[in-house]
Parts: sequence; C-alpha cells; structure tokens
Amino acid sequence: MNQEVRDLASFEDARPDNIEMLAEVRAGLLSTPKTLPCKYFYDERGSDLFQKICDLPEYYPTRAETGLLKSMAGEIAELIGPGCQMIEYGCGSSEKMRIVLSALIEPESFTAVDISKEHLLVVTEALSLEYPDLMVHAVSADFVRPFAVPAMVGTGLRVGFFPGSTIGNFTHEGAIEFLIGTKEVVGPNGAMLIGVDLKKDERILHAAYNDSQGVTAAFNLNLLARLNRELGATFDLCRFRHDAFYNAERSRIEMHLVSLSEQTVTLGGEVFSFQKDETIHTENSYKYSPGEFRALAARAGYKTTMTWIDTNSLFGIYFLQPQT
Ligand code: AVI
Repeated sequence: MNQEVRDLASFEDARPDNIEMLAEVRAGLLSTPKTLPCKYFYDERGSDLFQKICDLPEYYPTRAETGLLKSMAGEIAELIGPGCQMIEYGCGSSEKMRIVLSALIEPESFTAVDISKEHLLVVTEALSLEYPDLMVHAVSADFVRPFAVPAMVGTGLRVGFFPGSTIGNFTHEGAIEFLIGTKEVVGPNGAMLIGVDLKKDERILHAAYNDSQGVTAAFNLNLLARLNRELGATFDLCRFRHDAFYNAERSRIEMHLVSLSEQTVTLGGEVFSFQKDETIHTENSYKYSPGEFRALAARAGYKTTMTWIDTNSLFGIYFLQPQT
C-alpha cells in the first residue's frame, strides 16, 4: 500500500476514466435539450465548492440534516445494534458519518465510496486516525455501479448511509434502480439510512440554489472548467451563466448553464453549437414529501421502519429495510 493510503484497511480506485467521461459528455451535448451528468461536478475544486455550499446561510439542508442526526443518533444506534458495517455512498466531508459513528455500538468497519479520489483519501485517512478500532475502507467509484465491499466478519448489520439528499439528484426511476442495487450490497437483513430534502416554500428553495455569494454559480460553472482541463474542451466560462429555479410541476430544482451568446465549443475534435439563451441542463434536485419518498422506497422493495423530520419540517431521514 502506498504512502498516501497508509492508515486505511484498503483502497480501491474504480473511477470512470477520461474515455468514459468524454463519451457521456458527448452524448449529453448531442441531446436536445443539452445535458451534462451532475456526477462530474465533483473534481477536487468541485468538491471544495460543494463543501462551501454546505456552509452557506441559504443552504439549509446540511444544517437541518446534521441537527436531526445529532438529536436522533442514539435512537439510530439502537436500531442498528452492535458490530455493524457502515457503507457511505458519496462521503462528502463525512461530518454526518462522524455523528453516527460516535453513537454506534462498536462498529466493525466503515467503507466510504466517493467519485472524488482526492477528497475521499483526505476524509478516510482522518477517520481512520480518529477511530483506531474501526476498519476504514476507501473505494473511489461511481456508486451507482457495483463496487466491492469487505466481507462481514461478525454478525452485525450492514447499513448503507446515503445522506445529503443526493438521492434527489436521481430521476425517480434512477432512484428506484439505485435503491434496488443497494439491497444487493446490504443484504436481506441490512438497512439503508437515507437523508432526503422535503418540499417547502419555493422562496427557501430558490435562495438555497441562488446564494448571494455566488458559490453555487461557481460550482455549476466549474463543470465547464473541468471539461476544459480534463478533456481539452474550449468552453469560454465568461459566455455562460448559472441559472437555478424550482420546477413546481416536477417538484425539482433545476440547474442550468445558459449560453450568453451564439457560440461554438470544441470537444474531442467535434464542434458543438449553442444558440443565445440555449441551456445545458446540469442537475435536478427532487424534493419529496415523506409519503412520496416512502412510496418510492416501497417500489424498490424497501419498507420504511422509521421516519425522522426536523422541527422546521425542512428535511427527512428514513430508515429502510428490505421487504421480506
Ligand atoms: C449533492 N446534492 C444533494 C446537492 C443538491 O442540493 O442537490 C448538490 C447541489 N447543487 C447545488 N447546490 C447543491
């Protein structure tokens, strides 16, 4: 094991390569309307910008979910029981995982799966030093694809942790498919602990994705900067602007990059044309009522054993178990 991962029990690198990224980006830019996969937001700079978003006064989900986890950690730990294996999908800063880990009864291992390798290593290295009795595994991968999880040693539960309402970035069908896949990972006796953003006043939602400091705009535009850096694309960042709005009919925030003029961009030897005001749709963030989310989980074969909602009704956390 090399120096950068010396404190981890294991590290696996299964990230999509540039060829795959180019194929996905090309397909998105050839579609009508143009789209780009939101998973490519998270290079090193994108992950840093996302951390900044989480600390913004307007971006309520992180504070609401963290507060809820803090108040419910004991109850969650009791439900999960001793000797569990935790698997975090998209580890972010793992601040939320720390809250859960600190309450859990002698957890056996923690596997963090994240597409951003740099970020993943920093986070998992820190966790393995903070929790010396815990086996910490890092898997750098797109977590919607199958990935390896260490074999169970004890008899505890295997629990997938998916905080931050990242499930809201999937389509409904994509979310169901993802949840079905997690049943393979956690097994028939396992569980999923999932944080999901709730529907609310549109003004709160609008402010959260159009912050006054412009961090969300920088996060959105960094996607084009990444394509320039990693795929040699020729996007002129000054000729696109960030746009985010709530689509009430579809219960989702939509993020777009709007072309400020008629222009062309070269990528992989191909030329892509943009009309003035044409947009690239970069992200959806679906919002669910508790009933809607439980119905979605049921379609994936999960029963919701517990639902926790914060006192301001901003955010929900759900404990799902495979239906028998
Ligand atoms: C990661 N995901 C849940 C965030 C969200 O709220 O949809 C990503 C994000 N996009 C803009 N701000 C935050």
